[in-house]
Amino acid sequence: MKNNKIYIFDTTLRDGEQTPRVSLNMNDKLNIARQLEKLNVDVIEAGFPAASNGDFEAVEAVAREIRSPYIVALARALKGDIESAWNAIKDAEKPRIHVFIATSDLHMKYKLKMKPEEVLKRTVDMVKYAKSLCPSVEFSPEDATRTRPEFLYQVLEAAIDAGADIVNIPDTVGYSMPQQFGTFIGKIKDNVSNIDRAVISVHCHDDLGMAVANSLAAVENGARQVECAMNGLGERAGNAALEEVVMAIKTRSDIFSCSTEIVTEELTRTSKLVSHITGMQVQNNKAVVGANAFAHESGIHQHGVLNCRETYEIMTPESVGLKKSFIVLGKHSGRHAFVKRLEELGYKNLNQDKINQIFEEFKDLADKKKTVSDEDIESLAKNEIFKVPEVFKLKYYQVSTGNTTVSTSTVRLEREGKSVSEASCGDGPVDATFKAIEKASGIEVKLNDYFIKSVGYGKDALGEATVKVERDNKIFSAKGLSTDIVEASARAFINAMNKMYHEISLKKAVSY
Ligand code: KIV
Ligand code: ZN
Repeated sequence: MKNNKIYIFDTTLRDGEQTPRVSLNMNDKLNIARQLEKLNVDVIEAGFPAASNGDFEAVEAVAREIRSPYIVALARALKGDIESAWNAIKDAEKPRIHVFIATSDLHMKYKLKMKPEEVLKRTVDMVKYAKSLCPSVEFSPEDATRTRPEFLYQVLEAAIDAGADIVNIPDTVGYSMPQQFGTFIGKIKDNVSNIDRAVISVHCHDDLGMAVANSLAAVENGARQVECAMNGLGERAGNAALEEVVMAIKTRSDIFSCSTEIVTEELTRTSKLVSHITGMQVQNNKAVVGANAFAHESGIHQHGVLNCRETYEIMTPESVGLKKSFIVLGKHSGRHAFVKRLEELGYKNLNQDKINQIFEEFKDLADKKKTVSDEDIESLAKNEIFKVPEVFKLKYYQVSTGNTTVSTSTVRLEREGKSVSEASCGDGPVDATFKAIEKASGIEVKLNDYFIKSVGYGKDALGEATVKVERDNKIFSAKGLSTDIVEASARAFINAMNKMYHEISLKKAVSY
């Protein structure tokens, strides 16, 4: 282990997937994992294989394909979970099992219904068992920050003796304050006799908005691995945001005598991809990756930045992968300039079919808008790249709406060459259109979430609709794009249905 290196353990695919209303299938996980590898994270926690067959298969697929980072599978301190974790990651180049058990009195009494001695014994037995299968084992005492310190030291010492290579200290409920958490880590170093045989890791939740600050305080006090998630995704208020931890360490290298090996120029791309796939929007004023993170509104600030960038910018947009283009693309732009721009935006090595499709969509859009922005191109590209084969296609829709009339919508869908038209009323044009689509497809779904935002600015901006539908307790998230927001919504709804169709065979459910 390099002395001054901070290892970045990304848990977007595991704790991040525990974000309410986020559900990732195998392809989603693979697409995110490929980008995390480009970002050069040290560790990818790919999932919790014992949780479901789907997650087992997703973790296995990530372990088989992604070669450079460690691939971690989470397991409760149970033999079955550990076996499942190992079976899912055994083909990884660098596999790691992450065993956890709660150690606070509260969790032991009310959740586990176990006595401290039992938890201690289970820790030793299960860490030993994990180590007998996998060369690298991480152990987490869940709810560590509300655990009696003496018991915590005892459990950590026992876990290290049993073979844990990494001991991870979770602030499971985001209860700590930075100075307190830093001291807590320092005391672990002082009181766990064999701590020098393990790497200290931290895993902070953001319930009080302290996850990043707590992680950094831990780093200053000897933690060498930080668990974090892109865009701060995770259970409840989320985990420490990877991009913030990494850029804080980089930007304040005068304070931190350590560094990460993250390719920070990939941060923006990773953030956008995770947002696209999870359907979790990034707020505009989000640190590092928000749309406004490098935007200067006040005249005084603009003037300052024009004279000397450092007056109001502590990092460069380029350092997080934001590039400004000086070539404006519009309806007169040719394929060559378009492909070049796509490549500059990071969409390299696309096959000709995909390029042709995205170019066609670009031309359609350029007919409607004077200039097509980088955000527009990125949205078109992502939409095309992550599109599942279309079982249902929108051929046509027409709505009649007004503030004093009932909205009605007529929709024509195509399915394998067949056309089906249906009409419906609804509570507004979008509701009426969704209902007509459900009728035409023959599939009933529960709408779990729906929102629309503009890509870029101006009244001719593209509308990007996100729809999450639910069926059989699974959530399917998809996006739709159009300068017309009803059409964007209809496309998103149909894309979500297509996604669902591919995952759970709905052929039986479709009737014509
Ligand atoms: O928050 C937590 O305690 C966890 C553990 C499984 C590490 O996610
Ligand atoms: Zn967690």
